Amino acid sequence: MQTVNVNLADRSYTVYVGSGILGKAHPAFDKCSGGTALIVSNETVAPLYLESLAGSLEKADVHSLILADGEAYKTAESWSRIIDKLIEIRATRDTNLITLGGGVIGDLGGFAAASYMRGINFIQVPTSLLAQVDASVGGKTGFNHPQGKNLIGAFHQPGAVLVDIETLKTLPAREFSAGLAEVVKIAAVRDEEFLQWLEINADAIMAREPTALTSMIERSIVNKADIVAEDEREAGIRALLNFGHSFAHALETLAGYRLYLHGEAVAIGMMVASRLSEIRGLCESGFSTRLGTLLRTFDLPLDLPRKLDVDDILDTMKLDKKVIAGSTRLILVTSAGHGIIDSRSDKLQIAAAIKASQTIT
Ligand SMILES: NC(=O)c1ccc[n+]([C@@H]2O[C@H](COP(=O)([O-])OP(=O)(O)OC[C@H]3O[C@@H](n4cnc5c(N)ncnc54)[C@H](O)[C@@H]3O)[C@@H](O)[C@H]2O)c1
Ligand SMILES: [Zn+2]
Repeated sequence: MQTVNVNLADRSYTVYVGSGILGKAHPAFDKCSGGTALIVSNETVAPLYLESLAGSLEKADVHSLILADGEAYKTAESWSRIIDKLIEIRATRDTNLITLGGGVIGDLGGFAAASYMRGINFIQVPTSLLAQVDASVGGKTGFNHPQGKNLIGAFHQPGAVLVDIETLKTLPAREFSAGLAEVVKIAAVRDEEFLQWLEINADAIMAREPTALTSMIERSIVNKADIVAEDEREAGIRALLNFGHSFAHALETLAGYRLYLHGEAVAIGMMVASRLSEIRGLCESGFSTRLGTLLRTFDLPLDLPRKLDVDDILDTMKLDKKVIAGSTRLILVTSAGHGIIDSRSDKLQIAAAIKASQTIT
């Protein structure tokens, strides 16, 4: 079993990564011993892993709440159901909330833990690749409003994160690939050696070989933990993790959240951002081709649909949360593994990068 520490003074915690760790007693659950715990999961993941997780919590008084599955249920109503359940089980400030599922369950449960009695401990047990490498670490919690994704939320760090890579065996292929987009993202902006490693090990990763998966997930978490430790509230460097995301959010909004998984939109968005970096002369031409080759191996889409209007994309990007004082702040790359926060792209350059991403078939 590997461990990664997220160093945040009195909010520091450990991420445990291993295979087959669910079902056994584990230090991640030490705080639950002798107390009350509420497991929050969904109707897809609970039948697969809830019983096993409860086996790790034999010394606790365990309750569970199973929500409907999907981004469509990342709502105030689901948050409210978790709070109702906490009240029903007479949860106190010593109660532990455990999230078992993908990023939707982690974000929702995390926010319920942040808000119940002004904050109780929670433990993330992420079961999707995206949640294991990205969403479960860093303390961003919340839910969606009809007017925007993640509009309501809080920073609330978990007390521990437990990643059992065995759970990836049941993850659908499309969801697995979507998680890989966030892995490529972190390598592309921060870790050139990791990007090379991903290229060399792409086939083993797609075959879900346990050794390759463990190394990949651990390296992703180490990178994310470093960034979070440096910039917990995204005042600076944490924004690098938004590489490809401004374009992705525009695409998700315009094409509808149903058409693309978040990671798929991020893959396309990273291609646009890479082309923009080349157009701006910030990085050598060829980077976008290199990134595209890796994303294609990971079965991810690369191209923006032709039917989308460039002006509509630009308009939608202005509404993105990442816009500061009227200028479009974008994450670009200067070379493989080196991202920068940049506001100097003009509209014509952005439009050219979008068009270049529409023409390739
Ligand atoms: N907090 C953060 O820092 C952060 C970062 C990135 C994304 N997010 C959020 O995460 C969410 C996306 O996360 P996601 O991609 O995990 O989506 P998700 O939670 O909807 O999970 C994807 C699908 O996989 C299923 N699933 C999960 N684990 C499974 C398993 N082991 N076997 C079979 N099926 C399984 C889920 O039930 C769901 O149907 C978004 O809401 C996004 O805003 C948060
Ligand atoms: Zn993302």
